[in-house]
Amino acid sequence: MQFNASIRSKEMRYAVRDIVIEAKKLEKKGKKIYWLNIGDPLKYDFRTPMHLWNAVEAHKREAESYAPADGIPEAREAIARDYRKKGISVQSQNVMIGNGLSELIWIAMGVLANPGDNVLLPIPNYPLYDSVSNYLNIEKNNYCLCEENDWQPDTNDLRSKINKKTKAIVVINPNNPTGANYSRKTLKEIADIAAENKLVVLADEIYSKQTFKGEKHEPFASLAKDIAVLSMNGLSKNFFATGFRIGWIAANDFLAENSDIMDAIFKMGRGRLCAVHPFQYTIKAALEGPKDFLKQYVSKIEKRQAFSSKRLNEINGISCVAPKATFYAFPRIELPIQSDRDFVFDLLREEGVCVVFGSGFGQKKGTHHFRIVSLPSIEILGEAFDRLESFVKKHYS
Ligand SMILES: Cc1ncc(COP(=O)(O)O)c(C=O)c1O
Repeated sequence: MQFNASIRSKEMRYAVRDIVIEAKKLEKKGKKIYWLNIGDPLKYDFRTPMHLWNAVEAHKREAESYAPADGIPEAREAIARDYRKKGISVQSQNVMIGNGLSELIWIAMGVLANPGDNVLLPIPNYPLYDSVSNYLNIEKNNYCLCEENDWQPDTNDLRSKINKKTKAIVVINPNNPTGANYSRKTLKEIADIAAENKLVVLADEIYSKQTFKGEKHEPFASLAKDIAVLSMNGLSKNFFATGFRIGWIAANDFLAENSDIMDAIFKMGRGRLCAVHPFQYTIKAALEGPKDFLKQYVSKIEKRQAFSSKRLNEINGISCVAPKATFYAFPRIELPIQSDRDFVFDLLREEGVCVVFGSGFGQKKGTHHFRIVSLPSIEILGEAFDRLESFVKKHYS
């Protein structure tokens, strides 16, 4: 007797984790692995700020039950206040708290599009959006991020891809996997396109507090009042608390007043009962508490990112657009290779350097990339890039 998983589930791929299986096998055999693949600061020398733990501790006895499905009121109010401080009209009754942003991406995509509809997704993309689209039979409709223009979205390409079945645009800013921070001009163009075509914008801003010196994050919903925006954020990256599994989604007033989308999101939310209760008490503490740790952490990340892009650009056949935010970069491989997946697996097996292959995120036809994470110390990054350089010299010079 054979028990089979569904075809739908077989379409679920997550390159970011797939490479880890091979790396773990090699590590078990005694190989030293350089982990340049994990987008989790807490696996490196960053810690969740203590005032967030104190908030959990202070409320743990009242948080033993289910929470309200949409989230606890004090947290929803703190989130709405935080948006209003940035000039965005959001009411607390239009905020929902989720088990990480990941859960809310599943819910939002399912609410925004019917099977056969399409959602505009960036390419390269954070792979969860592709997996969810596959699972829900939503057509993927890709618009390009332009490497030659600091990985800003190509708004002409975006506009040209819209058709009758297009329901929404996903904008990830600051960006995983490229480390880009979008300019106000580019975002304004996307906002105009969305308004003209009556599309909802799903603004994934999970890295919004991690912009580097001279850069400013522009929250999408702050661009105009008459665009329909679902803003998404959370504690994982901005507050260095990936293990807390806290994310949120908020409809701006324009969307809330002109659609039943938020009602549908709440209905979906009720089906999963609630987000993890004790950690919801950390939201107000995070948004309204001290932020000095952030400055220190982001400056550490910025130094590591600057080192990585400098060092990568020194390697013949590798080029890297310098990131403007967060800990990712998406260097290009300009070597005579057939597949970046093979390149990355060979690099891992020979040199122990673990990065993620670009095809796992999608990329322009004919180009090859890999994604790195600059969270390890400069010393470790330096060793990893020395190994990458000798790998490239050995095989391609
Ligand atoms: C762009 C983007 N969105 C969402 C997520 C998911 O975040 P969470 O930990 O809140 O589920 C990630 C995680 O890496 C991400 O990079």
